[in-house]
Amino acid sequence: MAIRRVGVVGCGLMGAGIAQTCAQSGYETVVREVNQTLLDKGIARIYSAWDMMVSKGKLTQGQVDENRSRLHGTLSLEDFANCDLVIEAVIENMEEKLRLFPALDAILKADAIIVSNTSSLNVTQMGAITKRADKVCGFHFFNPAPVMKLVEVVRTISTSDETIETMKQFAVSLGKNPVLARDTAGFIVNFLLIPYLLAAVRMFENGIASKEDIDTAMMLGCGYPMGPFTLLDYVGLDTTLWAAEAIYEEYKDPLYAPPPLLRRMVQSGMFGKKSGRGFYSYQ
Ligand code: 3HC
Repeated sequence: MAIRRVGVVGCGLMGAGIAQTCAQSGYETVVREVNQTLLDKGIARIYSAWDMMVSKGKLTQGQVDENRSRLHGTLSLEDFANCDLVIEAVIENMEEKLRLFPALDAILKADAIIVSNTSSLNVTQMGAITKRADKVCGFHFFNPAPVMKLVEVVRTISTSDETIETMKQFAVSLGKNPVLARDTAGFIVNFLLIPYLLAAVRMFENGIASKEDIDTAMMLGCGYPMGPFTLLDYVGLDTTLWAAEAIYEEYKDPLYAPPPLLRRMVQSGMFGKKSGRGFYSYQ
């Protein structure tokens, strides 16, 4: 199936990055937020990324103008009616997703595909609540979405081969490398990444080393682009906590049990870079 018009639900950190990626790859893109303030903030983030790309010589002003004309902000799900594909990128809250999927199912044309950018929630359950479970799969981007080359394409019990093939091709058209994973919590990357991040928090909690030294150790000792605490702040402590809880819920493996410090930081509004404070300060 040919994808021309893409809807993105949510214009936060991931939604904005995904909408930016789709619009700059030539797709008519509609992005929806729940209120004008959040929408304006998300669109401003995209515009400033494009301005930065112009200043680095990666885009011309003409290309930015074209990208801008392809990107449409909205507050209404009804504006997805003509979309061939809708990418859900709202908060990692299952109740929220289970409200959204039937609403999208009712609005979209019969052959449209609905995918979730969830990092670890149950995609099978999201598909099962629609009348098009064969046209639902996971499509997980990595932060920053316009830069990171990977997308996990997540197959549920009901996803059709055709949907998987369409989404793999779509990923390639965005300049991404798709990998296929079965729908189990954490898929590939978070199944491996979350225990590493949680172990770093436990190491810090137990006073084994400072967060700065742990970051330096992993960057210089392993060649990682960021140490675990910089990455936790970058991804979001709230997002990491939700992912850990979802994987723990599935397997009850203590590796995924959130350390007390992480939970308390999130409860205190220390979400990382996006809230100005996490393991480091960004004021
Ligand atoms: N749009 C377009 N380009 C962008 C951009 C955007 N929104 N944001 C950054 N860039 C570009 C920059 O212009 C720069 O381009 P250049 O190399 O040509 O100058 C390039 O990306 C790198 O950016 P910076 O120069 O600002 O910074 P760094 O060189 O330090 O790289 C980084 C930043 C790419 C984030 C790198 O540190 C990195 O790879 N970190 C690890 C990120 C990671 O692991 N992400 C996955 C997290 S897990 C996840 O998301 C899953 C979730 O479910 C938890």
